[in-house]
Amino acid sequence: MNIKKLAAERAVESVKDGMVIGLGTGSTAYFAIEKLGQRVQEGLSIVAVATSKRSEEQALGLGITIVPFAQVGKIDITIDGADEVDGQLQLIKGGGGALLREKIVASRSEKMFVIIGEDKLVDTLGKFPLPVEIVPFAYEWTLDALKALQLNPKLRMKEEDYYVTDNGNYIADCYDSSITDPTSLHTRLNNIPGVVENGLFVDLAHTVIVGREDGTIDIITK
Ligand code: A5P
Repeated sequence: MNIKKLAAERAVESVKDGMVIGLGTGSTAYFAIEKLGQRVQEGLSIVAVATSKRSEEQALGLGITIVPFAQVGKIDITIDGADEVDGQLQLIKGGGGALLREKIVASRSEKMFVIIGEDKLVDTLGKFPLPVEIVPFAYEWTLDALKALQLNPKLRMKEEDYYVTDNGNYIADCYDSSITDPTSLHTRLNNIPGVVENGLFVDLAHTVIVGREDGTIDIITK
């Protein structure tokens, strides 16, 4: 059973003619973009904005119209994956490195549909390393500041080099934390000079669509 595809395709059922859609990033969002492309080829009329270069390229290849941000007042629905989801629908995102663009797009969305397999549901966030996007300038000091918050940051690597985001920044993955108060940690992280954004998505998810191994789907709304 492909539980990512199951959740992704259910989310796309909610897309209607005339909508502006936010396209997420990652292996689950991939299936949503594929399905959306199929519906567009069958006559669905929508426009979209993308949260990464790779999602934009996928969408364009399927005939989905990508519009400039200046032309979009609000996004009707953004469909995106997550790395962890807790019982209050707070999220960790950014395993794929696109957290900044994902958060900008989610923040402009009427509804954010989060599509996950059941393995992403947790009681407490933090088992998945929390990604924090930081500027390359004096990154060593930014890592010090993360350590001072009792986080255990490691710069993400791509082969021998530091991983670089679509925005030209680094990612510090913070290990071994148990995030009992995502709202407070989110604020403390974003107050560090050098931090651009962090992977905690607090009060942004509207609906979480969970694909289960037995072929069923749970829809959790706040
Ligand atoms: C991309 O930066 C991430 O936020 C992804 O949305 C998240 O990591 C989920 O990815 P998968 O769908 O590949 O598990």
